[in-house]
Amino acid sequence: MAKGFYISKNMGLAGLLMGAVAVVIIIALAAVYDKEKTKNQNKPVDGVAMLTTASPTTSSTLSTPKDPWEHYRLPDSLSPVSYNITLWPRLVVNASTGLYIFTGQSAVVFQCKKDTDLIVIHCNKLNLTLLNGHHARLTGLDGATAPTVKTSWLQVKTEYLVIQLNGKLTAGKSYRLSTDFQGELADDLKGFYRSEYTEDGGKKVVATSQMQATFARKAFPCFDEPAMKAVFHITLIHQRGTVALSNGRDVDGTEVTMTRFEPTKRMSTYLLAFIVSDFDHITGSIENNNVRIWARRKAIAEGHGNYALNVTGPMLNFFERYYNASYPLSKSDQIALPDFNAGAMENWGLITYRETALLYDPAISSVGNKERVLTVVAHELAHMWFGNLVTLRWWNDLWLNEGFASYVEYLGADYAEPTWNIKEQTILNDVHKVFAVDALASSHPLSRKEEEVNQPDEISEMFNTISYSKVLYVLEHLLQQGSLCSRTSPTSYLNEFAFNNTVYSDLWDHLQKAVLTTPGMSLPHTVHDIMNRWILQMGFPVVTIDTATGHITQKHFLLDPDSVVDRPSPYNYTWLVPIKWMKGGVEREQHWLLQETGISNATGSEWVLANLNVSGYYRVNYDMDNWERLLNQLTTDHTVIPLINRAQIVDDAFNLIIYYQVPSVLILYITRYLSQERDYIPWESALRNLNYYILMFDRGQAYGVLQGYLKMQITPLFEYFRTITVDWTRVPTGHNDQYNQINAISFACRMGVERCRVLTSDWFREWMLNPDHNPIHPNLKTTVYCNAIAAGGVAEWDFAWQMFKNATVATEAAKLRSSLACTKVPWLLNRYLDYSLDPAKIRKQDCTSTINYIAGNVVGMPLAWDFIRARWNYIYTEYGGGSFSFSNLINGVTRRFSTEFELKQLKQFKEDNARVGFGSGTLALEQAIERTTANIKWVAENQEPVMKWLANECT
Ligand SMILES: *[C@@H]1O[C@H](CO)[C@@H](O)[C@H](O)[C@H]1NC(C)=O
Ligand SMILES: *[C@@H]1O[C@H](CO)[C@@H](O)[C@H](O)[C@H]1NC(C)=O
Ligand SMILES: *[C@@H]1O[C@H](CO)[C@@H](O)[C@H](O)[C@H]1NC(C)=O
Ligand SMILES: *[C@@H]1O[C@H](CO)[C@@H](O)[C@H](O)[C@H]1NC(C)=O
Ligand SMILES: [Zn+2]
Repeated sequence: MAKGFYISKNMGLAGLLMGAVAVVIIIALAAVYDKEKTKNQNKPVDGVAMLTTASPTTSSTLSTPKDPWEHYRLPDSLSPVSYNITLWPRLVVNASTGLYIFTGQSAVVFQCKKDTDLIVIHCNKLNLTLLNGHHARLTGLDGATAPTVKTSWLQVKTEYLVIQLNGKLTAGKSYRLSTDFQGELADDLKGFYRSEYTEDGGKKVVATSQMQATFARKAFPCFDEPAMKAVFHITLIHQRGTVALSNGRDVDGTEVTMTRFEPTKRMSTYLLAFIVSDFDHITGSIENNNVRIWARRKAIAEGHGNYALNVTGPMLNFFERYYNASYPLSKSDQIALPDFNAGAMENWGLITYRETALLYDPAISSVGNKERVLTVVAHELAHMWFGNLVTLRWWNDLWLNEGFASYVEYLGADYAEPTWNIKEQTILNDVHKVFAVDALASSHPLSRKEEEVNQPDEISEMFNTISYSKVLYVLEHLLQQGSLCSRTSPTSYLNEFAFNNTVYSDLWDHLQKAVLTTPGMSLPHTVHDIMNRWILQMGFPVVTIDTATGHITQKHFLLDPDSVVDRPSPYNYTWLVPIKWMKGGVEREQHWLLQETGISNATGSEWVLANLNVSGYYRVNYDMDNWERLLNQLTTDHTVIPLINRAQIVDDAFNLIIYYQVPSVLILYITRYLSQERDYIPWESALRNLNYYILMFDRGQAYGVLQGYLKMQITPLFEYFRTITVDWTRVPTGHNDQYNQINAISFACRMGVERCRVLTSDWFREWMLNPDHNPIHPNLKTTVYCNAIAAGGVAEWDFAWQMFKNATVATEAAKLRSSLACTKVPWLLNRYLDYSLDPAKIRKQDCTSTINYIAGNVVGMPLAWDFIRARWNYIYTEYGGGSFSFSNLINGVTRRFSTEFELKQLKQFKEDNARVGFGSGTLALEQAIERTTANIKWVAENQEPVMKWLANECT
């Protein structure tokens, strides 16, 4: 899947939530930046909505169960070959049951690998029709005789249909197992489900699907593991006038009530898709005539699918060249769904998206919305080969799928929009985000043992930030070494394993071959040695360079160095670190660091800067003299230091300073140079980090001086944009300048720049007076809405709510929805909290992020906390099960916690609801406690010195 998920979107909330994520310990929350950009905040786009927390819980079952049906993994005695599936979703409610339902028939042909008298096949929440008194009918093929069924039952906990036979199935023979069933087409966003929307004044229903990771079994009985690949013959029955779509091309035309599809390639169940809707589509030009974009009729008619269509053709061509393998299927459909849990899902040949990740309306969407479409589409298309053609053997190696797709995503996006410098943003969207979670003692290695990941909950926990982003970076620094052509290696890997499954060492084998056969390419160690250190142990190093002695060392970086790492590492937490560096502005020879070593020419009076362009996944610390030299360089002429490194220096300083003996006010020295900085990337890095200071201080006495100081730093940037936009009448041309303009306005307003308040309130008022004509540029909507609502009262709020209800474009609705959380009026916030649990007002998929928006507001935070505590039982039951959003909810609401009292409340909450449970939020709750403890310590240590420094600076 793609990255991204609820929180995502434009957190806007200019003032309040502002650049969220941020620093330190604390912000394992990741994701969540603000602004219009909506962009990659949400990394995980794909299938499963993503978790932002670090480590998955271990555990699984405690004692080894005896019977095969008590194991969460299938026995290896049977292997599917092909399925015939017919599904008939009813898009009107069933009068007798009051439910939306689907009926279906499925036949699976499987081969017996080992003699057995037992059939175990996944099946969840399906009512099976009894055939001759049993749940399924078994037939022998090619002369094999099928034993009769002794007994059959549904094993609910492990989600199996179990069939015991009176005799044995014989190894080498094939059999067919047939079932008839009925299931509910629920609005739970899992398996075969329904999505609803309103068009032309009437309610419309779409039947659609989300199989990853373990929901195919909720659509039909199947061997639901990624390595159980098979060919699928799919038929959908549907009303005349509706369109049926699936992975393959339809073979019977569309004007029939039964649509049959060509057999799929050999593929995994989690990549299947079935959709019946009355959507419309657009088709690419002649050379791309198998590329289609589907959406609500109105969205298509208004051209909202055009941008995705424009970029898909070129990107597919790019990927064909990059992988040196043609697109494996006969067509490529992409469809935007009104209700969808993740950002997008790479179903083979029929990719599903949230509307905000596929549809783009130039008149309404911001630059961030557009970039999000670009990067999500690139990510999903990259999966058509990496992930779909060649698939992980089991979910423990999810990072292999996701990390590589996240890496290639940037190549594809950069190809389609070469002027955007998309690559520069990886530092913000990937590196800093992963650093934040991977620096916790509770983080986890990228790669987990296969036997540690079994149950659906454990699988869904694999979809976390680290999976998506860490390997991307680590791989990149490897692939960029010398001239290792990143093109040859995946090609031979893809060729060898097409339509098959792999484990990560298969990829290393192929990369190593490429290293050996690339002329002029040499590495000091094997690919396995280098890569395994990054994936088999959690975390990453901080490299310390002492410019007095030239000594260079590495150490496992922990946000809280006092925290206890109880996870042993086969490599003792040392890495093979590529050190690219410069001295006095000149690049020097690269080193590989493992043991402590000396670089003699790193001494002297000129500044030294390591991790050039942040090509490696590590932090850098220096002796104090070198820090000062760097600071001097920044304040005298910051442009001498490469752009990406300016962002990195800021981020390293903020994070190191906290505990690594660097005075806590050094960071504040660093922020001094910001008044001269005009580039987006360093500013964004600073804002995210400063956000932690703001979160920690915005309820206390230090806030007044902090705000005063930051107002001084941001004002020049605000004025700079006022000038270059000719008094806000234009939009800057550069892609990143557009983002920076948004930052300038949202931060200036937040820090109380009066001109900013007037600007945003006036724009909003103008819109209120003439609702049919919105004068606010799409880029600036989130921040303008938010600040005007924050400065306004019930009139502004009600107007925005009305506009939200009328919004027909998902991105516009998302901006309003986040901005509604910006009001400072408590009763409006409480009313909004109530709305968030009313599906008629706020879609279920948006419930968590809405509550989190409110919690991001300093006034809303305690209200949201009371709210979820009072309703935990209800929320958990209503929105629970395998839903992934609990961790985000807990993270979001507790982000500011920094007092003993809050810690006590948190522990009480854990105790009070132990019986109800926390589902996928279990780990997040533990982390919230860890984070709160760290925050308390941080505030105790830093409030004083920070206030003193600020008081000094501001006088
Ligand atoms: C699938 O259905 C087709 C057409 O109905 C039939 O010819 C074929 O034998 C079936 N295959 C299996 C595995 O049931
Ligand atoms: C499945 O059977 C149960 C028990 O009879 C019933 O409550 C449920 O509504 C059925 N589901 C569907 C989709 O028919
Ligand atoms: C799509 O491409 C066409 C042809 O190049 C162009 O006119 C149109 O503006 C593009 N649409 C979008 C939304 O980028
Ligand atoms: C899949 O890969 C495995 C391991 O390399 C190999 O033994 C098997 O034959 C392959 N299967 C197919 C269908 O290519
Ligand atoms: Zn993905």
